[in-house]
Amino acid sequence: MYETEIETNRRAWDVRTREHVASRFYDVDGFLAGNSSLREIERAELGDVAGLRLLHLQCHFGLDTLSLARLGAQATGVDFSPAAIAQANELARRTQLAAEFALCDVYAAPGTVGGGFDLVFTSYGAIEWLPDIGRWARVVADCLRPGGRFHMVEFHPCGYALQGDPYFHSPTPMRIEERSYTENATEVVPLHVWTHPLGDVINALIRAGLRIESLNEFPWSPYDCFPDLVEREPGRFHRAAGQPDLPMLYSIAASKG
Ligand SMILES: C[S@@+](CC[C@H](N)C(=O)[O-])C[C@H]1O[C@@H](n2cnc3c(N)ncnc32)[C@H](O)[C@@H]1O
Repeated sequence: MYETEIETNRRAWDVRTREHVASRFYDVDGFLAGNSSLREIERAELGDVAGLRLLHLQCHFGLDTLSLARLGAQATGVDFSPAAIAQANELARRTQLAAEFALCDVYAAPGTVGGGFDLVFTSYGAIEWLPDIGRWARVVADCLRPGGRFHMVEFHPCGYALQGDPYFHSPTPMRIEERSYTENATEVVPLHVWTHPLGDVINALIRAGLRIESLNEFPWSPYDCFPDLVEREPGRFHRAAGQPDLPMLYSIAASKG
């Protein structure tokens, strides 16, 4: 089911990867010079990752995975885009960081990279590409060792609702055609997205056997990605003055018993 939609998405992410690698938005040169691509929320919430076997789901072309490796994690990233994984491997080679990358659909991660991870991480624009949030949560649980931790930072469905997307999940994906979000993107590609309200994500993780340790909502995003946001403080895009704050991001920390 959904093979056609997923294949369309995969092709779109190959196109996007080629644009993203050359973008100011991702700033690969800055990363190679030592900058971290991690944002303030995950930096504050992940804690010390040194020595941890870490799995990064939907790692794109590896900047966050490699930034986590720079903090001492033994990092593995998975993504379904061959262009993204090829670029991630190239960056790992150039930086000599302790990171490995595997090409697979996120649902195939347990069969591809196995389980026993101390920490599973995913962030910023990952789950909207997935049709089945229950299956995704079972992947997270299957990849963790008992006692292992899960951490995610995601765009809030309220932010998507501001741009006119439905808040609640429908099995029928939204088909969009758009340029990517980096400043240099030109190619318009079709994509399929599924919304996942917060309750569905939390319930899926609980049903997969995880214990929710925290759920935080943030009235800002590090990206100017929803309508009418204003950078009120450096790196924090809120709704414009005069509009009531709404959650733009959420983070979840969970553990496997
Ligand atoms: C917006 S990016 C993730 C954000 C990441 N924090 C970043 O900006 O580097 C979304 C990633 O999900 C990947 N992806 C989408 N659907 C996927 C699937 N079914 N299985 C594996 N990866 C998928 C895409 O290839 C892309 O690299």
